[in-house]
Amino acid sequence: MDKNEINNNRRDFLKKVGTFVGVTISLPVISSVFNSCEQDENPIPQPPKELTQIDLNKYPPINTVGGSVKILLPGKNNNNPIILYRKSLDEIIVLSTICRHAGCEVNLPQPGKIELRCPCHLVIFSAENGDILINPISSEWSGEPLDKFNVIEFDKANNILKVEI
Ligand code: FES
Repeated sequence: MDKNEINNNRRDFLKKVGTFVGVTISLPVISSVFNSCEQDENPIPQPPKELTQIDLNKYPPINTVGGSVKILLPGKNNNNPIILYRKSLDEIIVLSTICRHAGCEVNLPQPGKIELRCPCHLVIFSAENGDILINPISSEWSGEPLDKFNVIEFDKANNILKVEI
């Protein structure tokens, strides 16, 4: 065996060892990346929704059509605020403030507007239903609306809203 043959054999041997070590190290890493993605697709279970009464007399802005407020109901919406938006004299919309892209809290609309802007990546949602109006990051996130809670009854005489939340 001449020197060149020995060098070639050594090179082949090192290549095989390198490939083996690379695959051995990479497989668990790749597997854990896929597993972590799978876990993201199974969100943390939410507590069951309950009928909750909200006394709107405490929130004067909501008494005007187009008005909105953010309120925190302890233990509700994972302890995140909700938005109340007065769509019309007879209808109040109740939304989560939490953007489902990366969990930032959306801002209230400007007076007379319906745009709820997420400050993190500037997606804009509608206060009328939580749908996305403008998605500047559509190439990376196809978008999901804000969670909307079911209004069971709006007692206008007493200004009480009953919501499943
Ligand atoms: S967290 Fe709201 S757009 Fe990214």
